[in-house]
Amino acid sequence: MNLQALLRAHAGLDLDEADLERALRQRMQLLGLSERADYLAGLAGAELQALLELVVVPESWLFRDPGAFALLVRHVQQHAGPARRLRLLSLPCANGEEPYSMAMALVDAGVPPAWFSIEGVDLSQEAIARARRAVFPAYAFRGGDAGLRARHFAEVAGGYQLAPQIASLVNFRQGNVLNLHSDVPYDVIFCRNMLIYFDGASTAAALSRLSALLTPDGLLFVGHAELPALVRAGFQAVAERASFAVRKGGPAPLPPAPPPAPLATPAPVPRPAPALATPLASPPVPHAAGVRLHQAHDCLQRGQLAAAQAVCEAVLADAPDTADAHFLLGLVADGRADRNAAEQHWRACLYLEPAHYEALCHLALLASRRGDASAAAAWQRRATRVYARSHSGGGRA
Ligand SMILES: C[S@@+](CC[C@H](N)C(=O)[O-])C[C@H]1O[C@@H](n2cnc3c(N)ncnc32)[C@H](O)[C@@H]1O
Repeated sequence: MNLQALLRAHAGLDLDEADLERALRQRMQLLGLSERADYLAGLAGAELQALLELVVVPESWLFRDPGAFALLVRHVQQHAGPARRLRLLSLPCANGEEPYSMAMALVDAGVPPAWFSIEGVDLSQEAIARARRAVFPAYAFRGGDAGLRARHFAEVAGGYQLAPQIASLVNFRQGNVLNLHSDVPYDVIFCRNMLIYFDGASTAAALSRLSALLTPDGLLFVGHAELPALVRAGFQAVAERASFAVRKGGPAPLPPAPPPAPLATPAPVPRPAPALATPLASPPVPHAAGVRLHQAHDCLQRGQLAAAQAVCEAVLADAPDTADAHFLLGLVADGRADRNAAEQHWRACLYLEPAHYEALCHLALLASRRGDASAAAAWQRRATRVYARSHSGGGRA
């Protein structure tokens, strides 16, 4: 088995060969090995973990995609109580930003800590060690409200230390989504911005594990770029704006996504890279527009809707037929619960690029949130046709 296939089988990660090669050379140099075969022969256990530490992307920040935390609070307020403690899981938790944001959101909303438990799990031992330290740099605060730091943190050397009464609400452990087990299922799982690094088979394996870990009526939160994959797999989108939450069950699954066509960029963006999280399926856009759309996408991921909108509008002013700009503006509008505007933008995107698979998926979700099952089915059928054509080599719909 080659190195790429080994890491895919072990952790689900679909890694770029050049990134892997760089990590491998770094490890070989550290171990004083000159023969690749010698290194590969000993690649298991602690050495495999050491290699993984070099290729994972534990990029996160506090209150990333704030809509998810608002829905979490409402869900816990509605379902937890003195006689029912909800079990919450953040997988992957990176350096603790996400599970601590869950804890702060709940405490700030006045939910008694006895009503919930929070676990944070990540493949990276180094990330778990940082999570336990609970010290965050200034840039980790780019998603929260202005008072967050003053309410829950104290300035220390190297950053901001989370208050012990919040930090103590989260338990951390190292673990792998592909073989994670729990005797008791979780009521809420945050699994955001990890499946974007997985290929189709690993995503399917991870989703079957996540499904087993989730209670029948539990909530699963994913990243916005991951939502269409979950809906395709048969999960049902929750009708809440900008939360990107799903439940088990739902309408007939869509087929797996076609291989995404990445946004055009002036230079190759290394994989795995959060900036490529949205598998936007458009014909190449001019380089300058591609860069700006990546910026808009980054803003969107940080919950900076106005900034994302401004960038997309500037792109459209220069190049009015940029389908991806309309697609992102649809996400901005959806984030503001403006479903009409979201629909208009996704329709505009499809007018320019009729085979824009992600726009079709989002329109299907929008229709099913509205309770319009027949429109949802029609958008899904169109998405299915796009998929089938892309796999039969027949080009765009
Ligand atoms: C980009 S971070 C996402 C963190 C957080 N959920 C968020 O959305 O900000 C991706 C994380 O996935 C973790 N990861 C990658 N493969 C994993 C696996 N097989 N099991 C558990 N965690 C994994 C990485 O270590 C990394 O910390």
